[in-house]
Amino acid sequence: MDARVLILPGDGVGPEVVAEAVRVLDAVAARYGHRFTYRTEAVGGEALDAFGTPLPAQSLQAAREADAVLLGAVGGPRWDHAPVRPEAGLLMLRYELGLYANLRPAVLLEGLESASPLRPEVVRGTDFLIVRELTGGLYFGKPKERDSRRAVDTLTYTAEEVERVARVAFQAARGRRRLVHSVDKANVLESSRLWREVVDRTAREFPDVTLQHMLVDTCAMQLVRAPASFDVIVTENTFGDILSDEAAAVVGSIGLLPSASLGDRPPFLYEPVHGSAPDIAGRGVANPLGTILSAALMLRYSFRLEEEARAVEEAVREVVREGVRTPDLGGRARTEDVGVAVADRLRRRDS
Ligand code: IPM
Ligand code: MG
Repeated sequence: MDARVLILPGDGVGPEVVAEAVRVLDAVAARYGHRFTYRTEAVGGEALDAFGTPLPAQSLQAAREADAVLLGAVGGPRWDHAPVRPEAGLLMLRYELGLYANLRPAVLLEGLESASPLRPEVVRGTDFLIVRELTGGLYFGKPKERDSRRAVDTLTYTAEEVERVARVAFQAARGRRRLVHSVDKANVLESSRLWREVVDRTAREFPDVTLQHMLVDTCAMQLVRAPASFDVIVTENTFGDILSDEAAAVVGSIGLLPSASLGDRPPFLYEPVHGSAPDIAGRGVANPLGTILSAALMLRYSFRLEEEARAVEEAVREVVREGVRTPDLGGRARTEDVGVAVADRLRRRDS
């Protein structure tokens, strides 16, 4: 197939990890006879510096014209006091493209039991998917206000917003172990009580999927007590942001987690869950696997290339098993070594 991919490397380690994902996409193209063409634009802090906005019109336009978007990371201490933050560029991009469902799979890879802070017998078998609502809640609620003595953020959800993301979660559960935990704070928040009602109603369309409601504080605890008991977790924007970092720690490193942000129509956006990691930027030691696995999600969800997606995931598992690991996983490999190792395995694959 022919596909146009927009690359938004962004800040910090973004360019380094994105380069390895492109290397892997090129290996997939060569091995399976596809053609991916790339265009690169600015986002985040680098865009702020060059264009005075974290999402230049040209970058958004390029996204709309692409079949899929691959993003590295945005942000960094350099822009901490900027009037507009780099992160606003990413939020605008998600919002403008209507990407309301953010899929964040957390899987414990073979051989990484010891990278998790949890005991091996607790973490073994961990394989769940967080479906985070991405264009509502506290991130986008109005009013959003600030003066020197008072600040306001607003948590709003409409039934439609809850329903469409719940549907994504139930659908995803059908391809997995058919268990959905809907996570909220219904004992306190009105928005969560609506969330629960709508998820219950939506669940009736999926009688083959088991639904359990869980309070977010309980979920935070259960994720470290019994992470293997989860299959699909669906939750509002802010809760999903927090729980996905916790999930990353459980499976060993935030450098490993990929994400796919989906909406009703393409282009969809793929990015690692980790941030710009300014402390290690430019040193060539960032873990590219979160971005490489995000590229695998792109193959799966944007291009419907399931076999290719699985091949990338399998190659990643092999590389980790063989010990080609960056320092966050206790290894000594460099960013590029990991990308090259994954790409090599793909090229050598016969099937
Ligand atoms: C994430 C990040 C972003 C978010 C930031 C960079 C705006 O933490 O994707 O989890 O909060 O959504
Ligand atoms: Mg986050």
